[in-house]
Amino acid sequence: MTQNPMQANSSMPSISLGADFIANPFPMLEMLRNNMPVFRYELPNGKAMWFITRFEDAIRALRDTRLSSNAYHTLGGGQAGRQSALGLERSMVFLDDPDHARLRTLVSKAFTPRFIEELRPRIEEIADALLDKVEPRKGMDLVDDFAFPLPINVISEMLGVPPEDREQIREGSSALSDATSTDPRRWQQISNFAAFVRKLIAQKRSQPADDLISRLVNTNDDDKLTEQELLGMVSLLIFAGHETTSNLIGNGMLALLSQPAQIERLKNDPSLIPGAIEELLRYCGPAVSTGPRFATEDVEIGGQVIKRGDMVNVVIGSGDRDSSQFTDPDELDVARKVERHLAFGHGIHYCLGAPLARLEGQIAFGALITRFPNLQLDCDPNTLTWRGNSVLRGLASLPVKW
Ligand code: HEM
Repeated sequence: MTQNPMQANSSMPSISLGADFIANPFPMLEMLRNNMPVFRYELPNGKAMWFITRFEDAIRALRDTRLSSNAYHTLGGGQAGRQSALGLERSMVFLDDPDHARLRTLVSKAFTPRFIEELRPRIEEIADALLDKVEPRKGMDLVDDFAFPLPINVISEMLGVPPEDREQIREGSSALSDATSTDPRRWQQISNFAAFVRKLIAQKRSQPADDLISRLVNTNDDDKLTEQELLGMVSLLIFAGHETTSNLIGNGMLALLSQPAQIERLKNDPSLIPGAIEELLRYCGPAVSTGPRFATEDVEIGGQVIKRGDMVNVVIGSGDRDSSQFTDPDELDVARKVERHLAFGHGIHYCLGAPLARLEGQIAFGALITRFPNLQLDCDPNTLTWRGNSVLRGLASLPVKW
């Protein structure tokens, strides 16, 4: 996806995917949904990128095998070239079946709801320890002190990343996701992250332990991963395993603390928390869009013909505010019965880590609400800085007090 604000040509509404969009994408998405639900945007290179903004069209697009996830074959160079330092072009999320299915099967067992549920006591321990540390301070940066370290520690324990190396994960993956950054060190940080992942794999090869990377390194000959696939798998699990969940905790807590009546309902009835997580995913989930798709032949969606080679941006954050699917979609209602939403995607790439994200979310929100019943914002929400790109969005920091 592009990282700079983009201006449309004269035949289109002027849309920008810059900092304002990341801070609040919903008004622009509503405008597109109501007026041009399948919207053709012309990229500076003359190629088309289509925004799919309605719920049912999004489902249709994500099920359509003519829309490929194999971005790197089409993109080439630039961003793609940099990210391939991490092997991401050979990771499941950027591949179609059968390669996608082969890679996903290798790790799917570790992410089943049953297996993930066994992690509950350990995740609760990690959450409690983080809150123990900050409790006497009567305030914290919820993003830095809690929302990031919780999922980083969880995925690191699953993968076998030593505690002293976990700060590198934060730095590397921040650099990867923060497309608004103009920091010249960004590409260097991504390269350092790739070097770190390679070193980690080498360590697991020489000293295997009881963790997911060691198991991947030692898969039998039939399932063997190439070096680039292994790098891509580990980079993807590290990145996807925390950046999104951190942003769910940050975005979700901002939404709740800005609407105290909603947080009161959770305090009065904590059994609402699992349903509230689904509502927060719908209302302010961290993924605005899935990864890009590419038409391998002409495809008709919502009355528009998407031409072979065109890029498609399935805007799940828009589908989840579609009034044909949800009553009062712009209202946050923690007791809403959300039967289905798009926050974890749909189809073959449906989020592998959804059971883990849900469990971490339930534990995180539950712990914050019970530990600090009078938790409040310690900032003006309008001054908060958002980071991300047109795919993922989250807060740079969220000062709170109790
Ligand atoms: C709130 C947290 C999360 C959200 C909102 C989220 C969202 C998503 C979405 C929208 C996709 C689909 C991408 C596409 O179709 O292009 C996806 C895929 C994926 N997610 Fe998550 N995710 C979350 C947490 C996690 C966690 C904790 C993990 C753990 C490792 C994870 C691992 C993955 C993987 C490996 C894929 C690729 C699946 C495939 O290609 O088959 N995610 N996620």
